[in-house]
Amino acid sequence: MTEAPDDRKLPHFATDNLVRRIFSPPKRLLSKYVSSGSSVADLGCGPGYFTIPMAELTGPGGKVYAVDFDAGAVEEVARKAGARGFDRVVEARAGSAAEADFIPDGSVDFVFAHGLLCCMKDHSGALSQIRRMLKKDGLAYLSVTKFGRKKDPRTVTAEEWECMLKGFRVRGSGGGLLTRWALVSCDGESQGTELETPT
Ligand SMILES: C[S@@+](CC[C@H](N)C(=O)[O-])C[C@H]1O[C@@H](n2cnc3c(N)ncnc32)[C@H](O)[C@@H]1O
Repeated sequence: MTEAPDDRKLPHFATDNLVRRIFSPPKRLLSKYVSSGSSVADLGCGPGYFTIPMAELTGPGGKVYAVDFDAGAVEEVARKAGARGFDRVVEARAGSAAEADFIPDGSVDFVFAHGLLCCMKDHSGALSQIRRMLKKDGLAYLSVTKFGRKKDPRTVTAEEWECMLKGFRVRGSGGGLLTRWALVSCDGESQGTELETPT
């Protein structure tokens, strides 16, 4: 695993807590895209706020790949998956989402990258991985925070976001005060824009 020292880890309670469960229950979003037997990738999974509900939705016939460069978060995901009997469904690995080569090409129905890209520097590496692992008719959900210093290489500015989306077919998009999101696929007319790799 390549060290990504400038990528941002969050305290685990920041992404898995009661307030979030009340106001943003994970299955409200996931149940639109994840069904029994699906193959799913949770990139930047954190301590598994979405990963375990994904496994509940795919059931024992599905597959959930979970990746985070925070090894402690990944351990937490593996522990929760084991405790709920999903250790054969959830495959959790510590590493960068830009190097998630253990996920086979064209194997994933749904990629979930919620709050990932704005925490890491190698945006183009992660986006290439997403394109590589998605099935032809697969979908990816990308979301980023609107905040961040322009000079910070992790920040996804509005201009970069538009540029990122040009590499996909956009099926839906939106946002609120704090975040922007898009549902994308690789089929059809992307505008083929490649992002430069940050140095
Ligand atoms: C804002 S949190 C979102 C966590 C989770 N997706 C959620 O919504 O609960 C961003 C996560 O991305 C992880 N992360 C940052 N850089 C990463 C990288 N290069 N590869 C994989 N994960 C990364 C962080 O450790 C953190 O868990």
